Amino acid sequence: MTKNINQSAPEWALITGGSHGIGRALALECVRRKMGVIIVALPNDDLQHIEHELAAINGAAFATLGINLVGEGAVEEVVAWLAAQNLRPKYLINNAGFGRGGLFEDTSWEEYRTMMQLNNQVMVDLTYALLPVLKQTKGGILNMSSVEATLPLPYKSVYTGTKAFVFNYSLALRQEFKYHDITVSALCPGPVITNEDGLKRVKAMGSLAKIAVTMPEDLAPEAISGMLKGKDVIYPGFLVKVMAFFGMIFPRRIKLNVLEKMFSKYRTAEDVGAEELEAAKK
Ligand SMILES: NC(=O)c1ccc[n+]([C@@H]2O[C@H](COP(=O)([O-])OP(=O)(O)OC[C@H]3O[C@@H](n4cnc5c(N)ncnc54)[C@H](OP(=O)(O)O)[C@@H]3O)[C@@H](O)[C@H]2O)c1
Repeated sequence: MTKNINQSAPEWALITGGSHGIGRALALECVRRKMGVIIVALPNDDLQHIEHELAAINGAAFATLGINLVGEGAVEEVVAWLAAQNLRPKYLINNAGFGRGGLFEDTSWEEYRTMMQLNNQVMVDLTYALLPVLKQTKGGILNMSSVEATLPLPYKSVYTGTKAFVFNYSLALRQEFKYHDITVSALCPGPVITNEDGLKRVKAMGSLAKIAVTMPEDLAPEAISGMLKGKDVIYPGFLVKVMAFFGMIFPRRIKLNVLEKMFSKYRTAEDVGAEELEAAKK
């Protein structure tokens, strides 16, 4: 576990998985808006990298905690650390999560368990544990769902299920939390190139995915604006809004047959290496 604190800020946002990909872009966008950021992510090179990046930004207030959020007692540890540092986040961005594509039986159940734990359980636990603070700071919660939550997506069944959980959970909680003056928003991006799994999907899908794909920096401003405005659901980008719209109006059986055909390429998609990922980001 690593810890680092630098300076103070009037408002803090805690971002899980803020060391890489979309979480990193959300953190940098918060800093651009003069918020302090608390990054809670795995203790590794990505965390060190974002620490250096933030330290290089003039006036950036940040704190980092390196921790495996699915480890036993991790959420309690985060909350104790925040209290010890006197850090009281106004915004909670539950971003950490991951997905896997392919045939259901080609992913191990241990991995599914970790996925469900990180994508859902950690989010619920952290929100529960931080609620006393959030009731006082009266800010907002941004939960990472996906446009896939509203489809749902064959060959990504467990992932799509975890994101549907986030979607419905966020909307229901939002209604409860309005009495505490806390907003809850569900962020539903389309495909974003961040990691090997994302690139594998884009490659398998061909030109269609290439049109829809975005980079984390493209969606972060709309996501943070949406959170600050307290929007219920944020579909960042025009194409994602179109995808979500068609996802909602298409008759379910037709939609799922079409999606199954489109994503059947995922069954045999080859894994992508780190070098190929770096090349694709350029
Ligand atoms: N990429 C997409 O196409 C897409 C689309 C819609 C929604 N999403 C969702 O957006 C979120 C971020 O995805 P991403 O693509 O940006 O992923 P990413 O690039 O892999 O980043 C995930 C972040 O979470 C951290 N993390 C992973 N496991 C953790 C754990 N056990 N404890 C603490 N931190 C952990 C990672 O740390 P390390 O860097 O050290 O691994 C990293 O900072 C996820 O919830 C994902 O489902 C992604």
